[in-house]
Amino acid sequence: MHSLSPEQLIAGIRKSQRDEPDSGILRAVNHGFGRDGLIPLWTGEGHLPTPQFVCDAAVESLRAGETFYTWQRGIPALRAALAAYHDRFWPGPFSPGRFFVTGGGMQAIQIALQLLLDKGDEVIVPSPAWPNFPGPMRMMGAVPVFVPMQFEDRTWSLDLDRMRDAIGPRTRAICLISPSNPIGWVASRDDLIAIRDMARAAGIWIIADEVYGRFQYDETVERAPSFMDVCEQEERVLYTNTFSKNWAMTGWRIGWLQAPEAPGPAIERIIQYNTSGTATFLQRGAVAALEQGDEFLGLQLAMARAARDRAAEVLGRHEGVSFELPKGAFYHFFRLDGLDDSLAAVLCIIDDANVGLSPGGTFGPGGEGFLRICYLRDPASLDEALERLSRWIASRNG
Ligand SMILES: Cc1ncc(COP(=O)(O)O)c(C=O)c1O
Repeated sequence: MHSLSPEQLIAGIRKSQRDEPDSGILRAVNHGFGRDGLIPLWTGEGHLPTPQFVCDAAVESLRAGETFYTWQRGIPALRAALAAYHDRFWPGPFSPGRFFVTGGGMQAIQIALQLLLDKGDEVIVPSPAWPNFPGPMRMMGAVPVFVPMQFEDRTWSLDLDRMRDAIGPRTRAICLISPSNPIGWVASRDDLIAIRDMARAAGIWIIADEVYGRFQYDETVERAPSFMDVCEQEERVLYTNTFSKNWAMTGWRIGWLQAPEAPGPAIERIIQYNTSGTATFLQRGAVAALEQGDEFLGLQLAMARAARDRAAEVLGRHEGVSFELPKGAFYHFFRLDGLDDSLAAVLCIIDDANVGLSPGGTFGPGGEGFLRICYLRDPASLDEALERLSRWIASRNG
């Protein structure tokens, strides 16, 4: 008899994999997915499908027979398009040799972590933070060291001294998501300089997630402040990014990593042994997004701005609800007075109001007591979701 019980099989997998809790976002999605009439505001995506010109480029590639193994780092056309795209918005010039095409932003993060971290190494993570950074760190035996941000007078702030104090002998990197998912905070140029200087002084890396860099609401500029403004190209900074958000391509699973040139061969090996590259037809679609996608992004931004303001107006009417108006990304992260189990609340909102939210507690220290909604939706379904949520909050208050 070689058949093992479920317990025996689970006992045989790595402890760090076994012990990692499910993301609260996933718990919410699994609880409510597919329910009739549910309005899903739980994950970070809007309602618009990928623009047609992007899909056409991918289909054309398949029809042309681009169905074979491809470059580990990405096809030259996409890496050149990434360099040209960066030249347009950030101080360059950027060479294609800095860019690696990945299976979504998520795989860019995995590569960055695999490149840098040994068991027991620490990474500084300001929180609340998107759980898909600390989760994979723990699963590889590394340790996220959270630096909780302050929420006072409806304003989020990062205590740089506290961040500096958190750096120890095992610290290998600082991970910064700006604009932030979930809180919509945007690091100032001065914040970035301060973080750069602490990383330089400690000889550690920066992992910069600037996925929402162009999803920001300061109309006087085209993008948020970036580590690319204040760092050299050949220093210890890795940028993780994705096509998912700007061009409504979440289901495509394609993103990119930007890195100094020297670790390029090591990064290429990680790609080789993880995925062996990203499908060529996806990459052709990505080229079209970079080269022709400005108008679509402008449209999404206008929609996001209106939705942000609409959601703020409705949520702001309720006693006991507090939040800062997001400066970037497309989430409201709001506190509900007296809430101490955000996951239970989210499951209850799914059952009672048929709206999908994410629990604040899953975003790490400082997140419990909050809920997150993704407001990048068409006005009619956003209004309906806000109406349902309002009724739920009112019944809770009443
Ligand atoms: C901050 C941040 N980084 C990276 C990603 C990864 O995006 P994807 O893996 O869909 O490309 C997301 C998606 O929600 C995100 O919010």
